[in-house]
Amino acid sequence: MRAATRTGIAALPAMLCGAAAVLGGAASVAAGNSWGADYFPNVPLTTHEGKVVRFYDDLLKGKAVAINLIYTHCSASCPLETAKLAQVQRLLGDRVGKDVFFYSISIDPSRDTPEVLKAYAQKFHAGPGWLFLTGKEQDIQLLSSKLGLSSLTDAARRDGHLPSLMVGHEPTGQWMRNSAVDNPRFLATIIGDFLGWRDEKPQRSYADLRELPKIDKGEYLFRSRCAACHTVGKGDGIGPDLAGVTTRRDHCWVARYVAEPDRVLADGDPIATELFARYKDVRMPNLSLAPDEVAVLLSYIEKQGRGR
Ligand code: HEC
Repeated sequence: MRAATRTGIAALPAMLCGAAAVLGGAASVAAGNSWGADYFPNVPLTTHEGKVVRFYDDLLKGKAVAINLIYTHCSASCPLETAKLAQVQRLLGDRVGKDVFFYSISIDPSRDTPEVLKAYAQKFHAGPGWLFLTGKEQDIQLLSSKLGLSSLTDAARRDGHLPSLMVGHEPTGQWMRNSAVDNPRFLATIIGDFLGWRDEKPQRSYADLRELPKIDKGEYLFRSRCAACHTVGKGDGIGPDLAGVTTRRDHCWVARYVAEPDRVLADGDPIATELFARYKDVRMPNLSLAPDEVAVLLSYIEKQGRGR
């Protein structure tokens, strides 16, 4: 079971050229649907609102969908993935729940009860049309493998997983895999284009493009990795406002915390423990940043904080 594109960023150029990956890695299924009721298991799942639904009948049949796998205890990229998907949902507006449905399926169903998922959904301000789902471990494993995401259900390795967002259109059987941590605006456009919405907004010509604004590396990193959860001086988001954090706290502590918040917490650090208790539904993710990336991020945050 392979998707026809490789995961993650490598897949993006192909998609930009309009090539859609097809589930199963089989020959083209542009017409007809080999990926319908016979292919997808109709297993029962429970939504974060406690409703029991059938995967194929209730969630897929006749619909356009965006599906990712998550688990709320994840300390790596899943929280960023969910925060970005929340931004994509805001960009797509009320089309979500009408023209496209978002599903985040837990791969840790024993801990992710509907109540836990509900708190998680609320924390990220997930709107209507986005369901967080749990179910029987076996059923979810089967689902993941059918979706081409099975490598993520390996409990030992899942923290390192490359977050993928499968976007599919059940009636035509077309599926495409994206990196779920990409720029939300880009993801929203990709979803819209894939679902044939591109005719709505006239494309701007390259002739209209002005020189790209210069963005420094710290700002770029902050926007792409942190801004889904944090602001500097604009109030708490999913995580705390970072204005002044570089002076409020010991510099080395901040640097280490940004690099490996999961370890700082696991070491029983009192500040990390207090923060964790205060923001308990979401964890600051370990984004595997290199030391020089942490350094430019902190100087960006410091500059922003001062500039207010
Ligand atoms: C998915 C959401 C999310 C992302 C993405 C994220 N954080 Fe956080 N961050 C949090 C949460 C939540 C906390 C509070 C601690 C906790 O609950 O783990 C936090 C805490 C922090 C703190 C400690 C704040 C304080 O008051 O001491 C710093 C510093 C920080 N984050 C920096 C960053 C930086 C820099 C990035 C980008 C590289 C980033 N975070 C990405 C959610 C996030």
